[in-house]
Amino acid sequence: MIKRDQQFTEPSAVDTVLTPALEASPQAQQFENILRPKMLEEYIGQSLIRKNLTIGMSGAKSRGEPLEHVLLYGPPGLGKTTLASILAKEMGVGIKVTSGPALEKQGDIASILSNMKDFEVLFIDEIHRLRPIVEEVLYTAMEDYCLDLMIGKGPSARSMRLSLPRFTLIGATTKLNMLSSPLRSRFGHIYKFELYSFEEIQDILYRSSKILECELSEDAAEMIAKSSRQTPRVANRLLRRVRDFAAHKGATHITVDIVEETLRALGVDPLGLDRVDIELLKTIIEKFQGGPVGLNTLSAALFEEQETIEDIYEPYLLQLGFLERTSRGRIATKHAYEHLGIPFTSSLFS
Ligand code: ADE
Repeated sequence: MIKRDQQFTEPSAVDTVLTPALEASPQAQQFENILRPKMLEEYIGQSLIRKNLTIGMSGAKSRGEPLEHVLLYGPPGLGKTTLASILAKEMGVGIKVTSGPALEKQGDIASILSNMKDFEVLFIDEIHRLRPIVEEVLYTAMEDYCLDLMIGKGPSARSMRLSLPRFTLIGATTKLNMLSSPLRSRFGHIYKFELYSFEEIQDILYRSSKILECELSEDAAEMIAKSSRQTPRVANRLLRRVRDFAAHKGATHITVDIVEETLRALGVDPLGLDRVDIELLKTIIEKFQGGPVGLNTLSAALFEEQETIEDIYEPYLLQLGFLERTSRGRIATKHAYEHLGIPFTSSLFS
């Protein structure tokens, strides 16, 4: 049942599923917060990561220590931030949240760290974007729980060591390879987030539809799941758009027809590809004879940032087997041609 007072709590614009599909707008973030699991037992998927962290937390608790520093990496929208909040809750401590680009000076990180409470979690999103001078402060903070500060300038300058509370740093990144090895080596737990299975996305959709109090038929859930790019953030966003459509039509529950209509209006195809995905594949096929084509050339042809192509579009196209990354550039596969209904002409795979 769709509750009347829930129908218009967020703008019903169709922008949010589309490019860049994985960035959350402030309103969408509010909704994401409602839908976020709060404890580990509610968290669906990433079972190996959950298992390892459960063991890590129980070891830390039994020794009376903070959880070792955790590095979470993988494509956006897969629940890295959610997991960080859960870890703090499960450890029974608070969490302070910041991001790599927000920390401009050594003083920024020094003041956050010196105001932490014992065992508290510091979450740094986009940790690969930390400036080297800020990163340097983190080395001793992470290893020895202390800050080395320089007092004064020139010949009279001297260094001072300040001890810090024992804390857990949780870093999140979409680009593990952009992290320096001294920083990477200071994390005790390093985990890669995988795209979710179809069944896991369906389970997330059922959970979210319960929270949003909208009834979802099985075939409707299947159709949304298939279009969700194996990504919970996309699944929840599509669910909210579908819920808007249902409310607009005065429907009491979500049927497969309503999902179909919503996806069509959003320009999302049955595999969850949007206009940019299709354009990307078509550009490789039609302008570059199926590839290989370099990322910089592709970026110029599509008027999209290289980083957006790499982080937002490619992970799912690679997972679908529509794209290959080679040392000579990107190649569209036979599956991509078939999906787009274009005769396969590339000699690369014959
Ligand atoms: N909502 C978003 N991500 C989720 C997850 N991994 N498990 C349960 N609900 C979610």
